Amino acid sequence: MTGKLIAFAAAALSLLPLREAMTQPPASPNGPVYNAKGELLPPADYREWIYLSSGLDMSYSERLLAMGHSMFSNVFVNPEAYRAFQRTGTWPDKTMLVMEVRGASGKGSINKNGHYQSGGVMGVEVHVKDSTRFNGGWAFFAIAGGAPAAPIPASAECYSCHRQHAAVDTTFVQFYPTLIDLATKKGTLSAAYLQDQEKGAAER
Ligand code: HEC
Repeated sequence: MTGKLIAFAAAALSLLPLREAMTQPPASPNGPVYNAKGELLPPADYREWIYLSSGLDMSYSERLLAMGHSMFSNVFVNPEAYRAFQRTGTWPDKTMLVMEVRGASGKGSINKNGHYQSGGVMGVEVHVKDSTRFNGGWAFFAIAGGAPAAPIPASAECYSCHRQHAAVDTTFVQFYPTLIDLATKKGTLSAAYLQDQEKGAAER
């Protein structure tokens, strides 16, 4: 009897890995996908991902200001990367952060004051962590017209500003209210950001 039980338990155990393999979702269902030329395919469902924040006319970038429009920038992240951040305070490989830019309007319908997001998408930029593919781990992409996009060259100012001022792993977590306290607690803030903070404190 015991012998049979052990045999049964052993048989059940040997099935476990198979069952797990079948029920485990792929590690990163919303991770980056590239075509044969190494261009990033535009992430189709980013609007169903985790929402991090919206900036309104943030003026760190002359690039956007020069366009002379009032604009919102909405930031989303793939859900599996968000969950990993909750555990670790930093981004796992295959993180995709999407910044979507939309126009800001003041007057329309019953609105008398303040701004709301109007019209279509004016631009989509993606920040991708893929350590086996990119030097430094991350690359930026500017999506235009829904077409696949090549990585922005590593010499672009996107990389230097993000490296020099972003709070966690070259991403601007200091502007994402659900993440900054967590990163502070987990001790994952970048040396560059801590230095910025010190300088700011000295000037105040
Ligand atoms: C002078 C600094 C600066 C430069 C240059 C810059 N950014 Fe950013 N970027 C920011 C800040 C600040 C935020 C976060 C706040 C916001 O705008 O919502 C941000 C956020 C982002 C995000 C959201 C994810 C993240 O990493 O936090 C993307 C995507 C992004 N930038 C793409 C780009 C691209 C592409 C370029 C170059 C064409 C670029 N940025 C150049 C400062 C910069």
